[in-house]
Amino acid sequence: MIETRNLVKSVDTSEGLLTILKGITLKVNEGEIVAIVGASGSGKSTLLGLMAGLDGASSGDVLLDDNNLTEMDEEQRAMLRGQLVGFVFQSFQLLPSLTALENVMLPIELKGDDQARDKAKQLLQRVGLEERWHHYPNQLSGGEQQRVAIARAFATQAKILFADEPTGNLDTATGKKVVELLFELNREFSTTLVLVTHDERLAQRCNRVIKLVAGEIAEDTKNTVEESVSV
Ligand SMILES: Nc1ncnc2c1ncn2[C@@H]1O[C@H](COP(=O)(O)OP(=O)(O)OP(=O)(O)O)[C@@H](O)[C@H]1O
Ligand SMILES: [Mg+2]
Repeated sequence: MIETRNLVKSVDTSEGLLTILKGITLKVNEGEIVAIVGASGSGKSTLLGLMAGLDGASSGDVLLDDNNLTEMDEEQRAMLRGQLVGFVFQSFQLLPSLTALENVMLPIELKGDDQARDKAKQLLQRVGLEERWHHYPNQLSGGEQQRVAIARAFATQAKILFADEPTGNLDTATGKKVVELLFELNREFSTTLVLVTHDERLAQRCNRVIKLVAGEIAEDTKNTVEESVSV
């Protein structure tokens, strides 16, 4: 479902060329839940952005569902993202000028579905935000915004969902709710999930944990089924 081949990302800085990712090669299967872990600055968000086609690599390839992003222009990548990919990022996840309801409706409307409003309302109910549908993102807490983003991911039924620290700033109860929603998405639609997390317990629940150290894969460990379904 996702494949990277010798992915390198370098950026120009005032101190010269900084290589953030030093040749990442990995494969993620359909329906798999993968945690990306590692110290701050190890390259996790950069890798997620490249895999999601939000940013271009310096060299190497990213394939999403057998489409090579490297060979596509920005317009083609945007189209593929719309068809395949959902995001639950901590920032820039919702459109600020649209209400919660409109944010969730948008991808449904874009598919030409005239039931968008009803469907979006049901999805917001599912994430426990039925009372807040008319609020704008800046009127919602971080956790509420994340739940809207998950409702939107359900709406598009993305085949691949990338989440950068989905529980990062949330209290324990809200974090748990967000994680349950992500796992539900995986169970119901076989959505492939790639999560960046610092939460050891969340990582242990994933099928697989990839650890980055200074822009390289240091460990790639499969969790046993018993571990990944418990908690
Ligand atoms: N555009 C850029 N210009 C310069 N340096 C960058 C740029 N983007 C990222 N970096 C650097 O690359 C390294 C990896 O960044 P990245 O955001 O991928 O880390 P991370 O593993 O997600 O860290 P965290 O856990 O703190 O979110 C960091 O040292 C960061 O400062
Ligand atoms: Mg990060």
